[in-house]
Amino acid sequence: MEERLIINGGKKLIGEVKIDASKNAFLPILAACVLCNGEICLENYVDLTDLGVMREILQSLNITSKLDGKRLILDARDAKNERISHELTMKVRASIFVLGALLGRFRSAVIAYPGGCNIGSRPIDLHIKGFKALGVKIVERHGYIYCNAQNAKAGEVFLDFPSVGATESLMMFASLLEGETVLKNVAKEPEVVDLQDFLCAMGADVSGAGSDVIVVRGKKHLDGGNFAVMPDRIVTGTHLLAVATCGGDVMLDGAISRHNESLLAFLKQSACQIEDFGDKIRVKAGKRPFSIDKIQTLPYPHFPTDLQSPMMVLQSVSQGVCLLQENLFENRFGVATELCKMGADVVVKDRTACIVGVEKLYGADVFACDLRAGAALVVAGMKAEGYTTVHNIAYIDRGYEKLEEKFSQLGADVKRVKIE
Ligand code: UD1
Repeated sequence: MEERLIINGGKKLIGEVKIDASKNAFLPILAACVLCNGEICLENYVDLTDLGVMREILQSLNITSKLDGKRLILDARDAKNERISHELTMKVRASIFVLGALLGRFRSAVIAYPGGCNIGSRPIDLHIKGFKALGVKIVERHGYIYCNAQNAKAGEVFLDFPSVGATESLMMFASLLEGETVLKNVAKEPEVVDLQDFLCAMGADVSGAGSDVIVVRGKKHLDGGNFAVMPDRIVTGTHLLAVATCGGDVMLDGAISRHNESLLAFLKQSACQIEDFGDKIRVKAGKRPFSIDKIQTLPYPHFPTDLQSPMMVLQSVSQGVCLLQENLFENRFGVATELCKMGADVVVKDRTACIVGVEKLYGADVFACDLRAGAALVVAGMKAEGYTTVHNIAYIDRGYEKLEEKFSQLGADVKRVKIE
């Protein structure tokens, strides 16, 4: 059975919405549970398919997880070191995080190459190089990565690029590696800080996350404990961009403005009013927004690649011309073709999209090609005149819990339909 979203566009967004916990923080934290010899309670669980797959991976390692309301309770005391098959890893790229955690706890691991959204080549060479720099022996054969960390030693790793995933993998591994490991040129994303906070809550000694250098002093074991995962800055950004695009007045409860500074600066330039209440952000948008001349995606704290597609929607209805450059993932402009079906004027050449703002978008049948493109098409549909049908919404469900309900609560007309 296929599901679709049908949107009757043209409504302003008004009201208050609660921002859920972050998928990209939850995924490495779930993987890090492999390191813990205890029971772990994670607050604010979100019902997302990617998190469901990660729980399946943990189950295959004999780590149970059960829900008590919004609290996820995991038991990793009897964790076993099993091979992680292609059937599991192909469903979510974040499966690779389990590698660092397995190496920390068991000193060996076998895992198939990861899958995930088709937004670029998405190599894992930085993870592998980092492990090798700490003495892990790695052989890649027949689609599997065989790792042996019996002779691994704490040391120094310099990442050629501040990869979020590689930073998180190495933090996990080093947490149970005797001695002091220094990770340099690491990713500074807030999700890295959340992983550090989680590891420390379980008894690890990790410091420096949020800066270029992370220092990990390995412990003999980690325990269990309680942790509340941070709010999702990409869901926050998607809602901010939705209001900027459709107009309206919305309070985002739980949104943290310092996680979205680059976006908030652009929104102010494009004529939105922003009020910061510490743990809430209010966004108001009335008249037609102004285009931003040049936007480029870069690692945090710069503008995030995960908001590039919904930003393209805002630019496609703004006054003026925008050059939007994608520097992280080479295939992340799939949304442009779909937006053009709705009347947008977007031309893509290599890594840059040239977006000439139009006055109106028109409803059409459009197809999500990745998670963030899917959410962007819903925003475009809410702005467009007439009905839009968004297909392939399984992508959206990977990272947004009941997006249609969140937007409907704000006055949009978005319905999920099942097609036999
Ligand atoms: C994470 C996020 C994803 C976000 C991305 C960039 C999760 C679960 N996913 O993905 O939503 O879009 O950060 O903010 O947190 N690279 C290499 N070799 C590697 C690893 C990465 O060349 O070994 C490259 C990638 O191809 C990409 C860049 O580095 O061009 C950034 O990737 P990375 O920061 O690792 O992203 P992910 O952790 O996969």
